[in-house]
Amino acid sequence: MTKNHASLAIDPYYDGVPAYMTEVYDWAYVDPKWVRVLDHNLVVRVQLFLNDQRLIRSYLNEIKEGMRVWQLAHVYGDLVTRAAHRVGPNGVFHLTDVTPIQLEHAQRKLAGLDWTKVIRSDAASFNSEEHVDYDLICSFFLLHEVPDEKKFEIVDHMLQKLPKGSKAVFVDYHNPSKWHPVRYILKLVNRYLEPFSETLWKNELSSYASQAERFTWRKRTFFGGVYQCVVVEHKS
Ligand SMILES: C[S@@+](CC[C@H](N)C(=O)[O-])C[C@H]1O[C@@H](n2cnc3c(N)ncnc32)[C@H](O)[C@@H]1O
Repeated sequence: MTKNHASLAIDPYYDGVPAYMTEVYDWAYVDPKWVRVLDHNLVVRVQLFLNDQRLIRSYLNEIKEGMRVWQLAHVYGDLVTRAAHRVGPNGVFHLTDVTPIQLEHAQRKLAGLDWTKVIRSDAASFNSEEHVDYDLICSFFLLHEVPDEKKFEIVDHMLQKLPKGSKAVFVDYHNPSKWHPVRYILKLVNRYLEPFSETLWKNELSSYASQAERFTWRKRTFFGGVYQCVVVEHKS
């Protein structure tokens, strides 16, 4: 059902949320009623065709105890809690998101972990107040959800904030092999629900960086090419 724009303007759950979120992903990420229903491990598991644990591990395995980590956006289920525990009290875990209900859920999950902070910010323009030099910056299934102009902004901003010796980790969709049945399921899903996803089938993640040549891009694919994990570091 189309939401009444006048009432959205005064609804705190919609205040400041980017147009692509309310126009495309309202039920998936913005409307608090749906977010309550969807924020579970099972949803992530089904959405990722049972590949959730190995994709989550591809991120978590990069985290060492005591690291300073920035995760760009909230993720359903227990991923943020697991990432924060892996960092531990000697490190820093900063989680940003643009959507109020997502921040609420993240705050609840990270309550009492005083090395963590949940911050409202667009990932493309985040600057930590403490000017933290992050050891690891992670985008977990964010890029496929944003329009291409925003993909360029986010990737460039992440790499601008990446100190020498630190890593950026991207876990996201990729171009599935032609033989893979999931390729054809995802084509349908993308057409109706994820209109910004399929450019990741055509473009390498490095093509979203304006200075890609200054970095090394280490890519692994999973599940017949359906998913990718790319680890980026400054060239030495
Ligand atoms: C990480 S993605 C999808 C993750 C995964 N599909 C899941 O199951 O949660 C979803 C999150 O991205 C957030 N998001 C969208 N655009 C953003 C942006 N420009 N900056 C920060 N967060 C953003 C949304 O508010 C939402 O919480």
